[in-house]
Amino acid sequence: MRKPIIAANWKMFKTRDEALFFILKVSEEMPDNNLIDTVIFPQSPMLRCLITRQGEELKIGAQNIYYEDEGAFTGEISGPLLKSYNVEYVLIGHSERRQHFHETDEDVNKKIKAAIRNDLLPIVCVGEKLADRENNNTNKILKKQVKKAFKDISAIELKSIVIAYEPIWAIGTGKTATAKQADEACGYIRSVIKELHGEVVADDLRIQYGGSVKPENIDELISQENIDGALIGGASLDPDKFIAMANAPLKILK
Ligand code: 13P
Repeated sequence: MRKPIIAANWKMFKTRDEALFFILKVSEEMPDNNLIDTVIFPQSPMLRCLITRQGEELKIGAQNIYYEDEGAFTGEISGPLLKSYNVEYVLIGHSERRQHFHETDEDVNKKIKAAIRNDLLPIVCVGEKLADRENNNTNKILKKQVKKAFKDISAIELKSIVIAYEPIWAIGTGKTATAKQADEACGYIRSVIKELHGEVVADDLRIQYGGSVKPENIDELISQENIDGALIGGASLDPDKFIAMANAPLKILK
């Protein structure tokens, strides 16, 4: 049984006061983290502030990490700094970082290694463009992204990793993948991991779906066989919606 994980990627939204208001409102309403992991990814300057107020159940994660531990890399964020702030999770390889900041599969691989080295839990994002899907290249793209991301990552190291399948055409567009499409892609990702590390590792790996998830569609998505949670953008900015989505897995655990 894989533990569901519901995460809010706030991207470049929310000021300090808005973030604090949100945390105050949701922290008492989060599910027991023995049953469900819930994580918020705010902008980096908010990490410290939210970590001191996160409550018992909620985890806080960083939206980015640099692959070197220190050095002359102006504007980047180091793993040791994140760890020293008790940050637990880090997002790696989000399609917006790949698209706007030209992150490559090789960068993603180096960032995963940096996260593991610093005892942070990576959520690694993969996903195809609309043209890839229309040309029947979804699996080819996913296989390439997964293989390159996890090059030289051991089976033991994979235990701390979550993969987020986020088809780019479904991000921020209101166009959710159907539950069947999402499940098939997550199942395919699981089969690639099985090829690399065998059945036990693949069965244990948690895979989230992301792309226009909202309270109205989360139940169907997370009840699919291969989907273990959601990575949510837009709808996660609203505290009431986030509370509803964070608690959604309770319905399938019962
Ligand atoms: P939306 O939920 O706004 O489509 O964003 C998904 C996403 O990119 C989460 O990382």
